[in-house]
Amino acid sequence: MAMMDDSENKTVNPRIAAGAATIGDVIGERLSRRGFLGGLGAVSGLALVGCATGREGAMALAEAPAEAGTEPAFRFAEIMRGMDETHHVAEGYRADLLIRWGDPLFADSPAFDPMNQTAAAQRRQFGYNNDFLGLVPLEADAGGAERALLCVNHEYTSTNIMLPGVTAGYPASMTQALCETEMAAHGGTIVEIRKEDGAWKPVVGSPYNRRITADTTPMRMTGPAAGSARLQTTEDPTGTLVSGTVNNCAGGITPWGTFLMAEENFNGNFLGTLPEGHREAENHKRYGVPSGWYQWGRFFDRYDVGKEPNEPNRFGWIVELDPMDPSSMPKKRTALGRVKHEGAENVIAPDGRVVVYTGDDQRFDYVYKFVTKGKFVAGDRAANMDLLDEGTLYVARFDADGTVAWLPLVHGTGPLTEENGFASQADVLIETRRAADVLGATPMDRPEDVEPDPKTGRVYVMLTNNDRRTDAQVDAANPRASNRFGHIIEIIEPEGDFTSETSRWEMLVRCGDPSVAPVGALWNPLTTENGWFSSPDNCAIDPQGRLWVSTDGNENSGAADGLWALETDGARRGTGRHFFRCPVGAELCGPRFNEAGDALFLAVQHPGDTDGASFEAPGTRWPDFQPAMPPRPSVMVITRNGGGPIGG
Ligand code: FEO
Ligand code: CA
Ligand code: CA
Ligand code: CA
Repeated sequence: MAMMDDSENKTVNPRIAAGAATIGDVIGERLSRRGFLGGLGAVSGLALVGCATGREGAMALAEAPAEAGTEPAFRFAEIMRGMDETHHVAEGYRADLLIRWGDPLFADSPAFDPMNQTAAAQRRQFGYNNDFLGLVPLEADAGGAERALLCVNHEYTSTNIMLPGVTAGYPASMTQALCETEMAAHGGTIVEIRKEDGAWKPVVGSPYNRRITADTTPMRMTGPAAGSARLQTTEDPTGTLVSGTVNNCAGGITPWGTFLMAEENFNGNFLGTLPEGHREAENHKRYGVPSGWYQWGRFFDRYDVGKEPNEPNRFGWIVELDPMDPSSMPKKRTALGRVKHEGAENVIAPDGRVVVYTGDDQRFDYVYKFVTKGKFVAGDRAANMDLLDEGTLYVARFDADGTVAWLPLVHGTGPLTEENGFASQADVLIETRRAADVLGATPMDRPEDVEPDPKTGRVYVMLTNNDRRTDAQVDAANPRASNRFGHIIEIIEPEGDFTSETSRWEMLVRCGDPSVAPVGALWNPLTTENGWFSSPDNCAIDPQGRLWVSTDGNENSGAADGLWALETDGARRGTGRHFFRCPVGAELCGPRFNEAGDALFLAVQHPGDTDGASFEAPGTRWPDFQPAMPPRPSVMVITRNGGGPIGG
């Protein structure tokens, strides 16, 4: 998220953080002990430099003769860094628009009319600010055409560029009807897509198509916290039924084909003041509730914590939805904890248990994994459908010696007792952050997507930035003070056992410009001036096992956000290569490959949302470039001219 996130990271001048160069000793100790090339699959022979040595050192190595085993894993000609009104993709590829905000999903969907938006219309149209993209393959049709269900999260509404006439008078200009339109634009979309004549297209009117919104989609609370008194409200005295989901950021697709929607910055949806001395005061404070980014609480009691103090406890969960059944009721799986969940990428461990990774996207918050109690049963979908209701949630402590200790958040274990305010597992889960605090988890530089690689046992953690970390707060896993540019950590699960309570970690890259020594970036010196990036956010592993990273905040480094291929093995480990560039003001979400690896789905989020942008004067009118049409968050699909794997 960019615009209203209190962990906002965009449109900040590329100022070099004071003190960043003072951490060399910390980094140096870590690098000298384990070595940048010490990760799994690494081969030695080419020394890498921390960019405290500056471009000269890096270039000297970059120009050294290539050694054996340095063939790049990616074979495409990278694009140039830059920023303009439109998107760019590597030569030899095409980027097609698949679906835009406001596009129809149903036979009765009204045409998009940006000047006269209504909640009723938006509920029948593709929502705003597409973030997570998931694919659930369907059988080919009678004609042999490929089909899939595209599962999309609509993270938030960029009110300033989405709605006409509100920017100048905000927030007073927000009416109840406009708030309802926003609620209808949150949530998610399930849409069937089909490949026709080599091009992927949405199937308008498919019986699978569905909109999930913030206010009209009933959901059941399940797992250990369901029914807790702390989840009960006037509307729902049972504490088990919630209308809707908000701020759905990244997510996941389970091995049994369900869609996990991560509720992230839910604190922004609330207004009001808690009654004096209310028991939720400390809890809400820990999550930044209420932060009042949205005006919904002026018109709807549930979003006013003075009237409904428990309502915020009903958000911040992982929602599981069955895209194969459009009438199914989504479930908020409380066993996975309540944080500002960035995503929910997951993997089957060797013993059959399922492991879900998630980052809590806030400065100084934590990385988690959830291990199911039960085991995945191949071929028996029904047996897997409630696997996420029982299991163990762990939070990560990253030690300076390269160990990751996964600390269980289990009531009655260690300090998670009544004495510390945890009377039950429901309390531990509702206050997951505080439970992780008392366990001594490692505060990280805004954990975003956390992606396991099922083939290697490695897990990639995107840490997008943290400009509030002080010199005194740096540690081995977060080695830069005032970290504006983020870094990527690789977790190595021992022998591919994702359920392990002890893992190892390595630094993969420290982001930012390697030519500016005080930035403290760390890239393989083979990285070109276009290949480095800032603020990693989402990532994907393609069918060949290669890592791709998308950014939210590269504009801090003077160029548009986009997608980079990133080498993780061999002498090129830590080398980035630029593949796709967003239009100005946008961040890039998704990314998602199809199973064949010949189609890559990308979510261009909040195009045109530049400093001072409004509906009337956006930073770009991508993708339509019509004077009367605002910029539209859109999903694109990348294919290779003549077919073949994306990235070579
Ligand atoms: Fe919604 Fe953490 O990005
Ligand atoms: Ca983001
Ligand atoms: Ca994100
Ligand atoms: Ca991902």
